[in-house]
Amino acid sequence: MILERFRLKGKCGLVTGAGSGIGKAMARGLAEAGATVALSGRNMEKLERATAEMTSSGLNAAPFSVDMAEPDSIAALADEVIADFGRIDFLFNNAGMIYREAPEAFPFTEWESMLRVNLTGPFLLSQAVARHMIAEGISGSIVNTSSLIAVFGGVKVPAYAATKGGLTQLTKSMANDLAQYGIRVNAIGPGWVKTEMTAALQHNTERFAAISARIPLGRWAAPEDLAGLAVFLASNASAYITGQVIFIDGGYTAM
Ligand SMILES: NC(=O)c1ccc[n+]([C@@H]2O[C@H](COP(=O)([O-])OP(=O)(O)OC[C@H]3O[C@@H](n4cnc5c(N)ncnc54)[C@H](OP(=O)(O)O)[C@@H]3O)[C@@H](O)[C@H]2O)c1
Repeated sequence: MILERFRLKGKCGLVTGAGSGIGKAMARGLAEAGATVALSGRNMEKLERATAEMTSSGLNAAPFSVDMAEPDSIAALADEVIADFGRIDFLFNNAGMIYREAPEAFPFTEWESMLRVNLTGPFLLSQAVARHMIAEGISGSIVNTSSLIAVFGGVKVPAYAATKGGLTQLTKSMANDLAQYGIRVNAIGPGWVKTEMTAALQHNTERFAAISARIPLGRWAAPEDLAGLAVFLASNASAYITGQVIFIDGGYTAM
């Protein structure tokens, strides 16, 4: 039956940046579909709260600390989740940061930390998880959170645009190389989502209205709008999809 192919019962996986926003909503969706989910990020208080909301509704989840800017912390995260869950069937590289400044004034320290968190970190975590999947013969799924800004360039976001563009190409490159092991690598490209990351824009009445008017569906996404695609990409229902960036943007890229 087709709905069986969407079920994640028996699967275990990891979502980074799961204490808030898109990551939190995807983690909940994945657990509701039957998976055991590791919620990771830096802020343990937020992660424990998000985990408690899930476990109190009978879902399987646990919090794990990671700083995606630190290679040792990333390696430790992969080891801890594998030790606790026994396996990783899916990874969502969702943690990310943004810093807004014109290119001529952009601070080098921010450039460096954005590359580490948004691009190098996802590569290192994918590498650790792929090694585990290959060793254990797991036909797993890796999903990166890219962005509209990988396509449009944006304004005053040179490092963010570069990292999301890089993450898109990393998705395709790793998809090609890992396909031989049955490991799929895809990306989600969110449009405008109401999260902490976009709080300033949401409060800027003029910009908020201008962006909303440019979205064919006429509204910003809620984090929960991303959960269905997360479940699909982690599940056997998407078994023949790899190397793709799938936009969830209310039609923005079509306009
Ligand atoms: N909101 C949008 O409109 C939009 C659009 C396109 C793409 N995205 C992407 O969606 C992803 C999630 O963002 P969001 O919108 O849900 O915003 P958010 O609520 O601010 O989530 C960002 C998450 O990243 C985590 N994070 C940041 N730096 C980290 C680090 N060094 N180590 C580990 N975790 C780190 C944060 O967790 P801690 O605070 O616990 O570290 C936080 O949970 C990001 O990759 C973002 O670029 C968002």
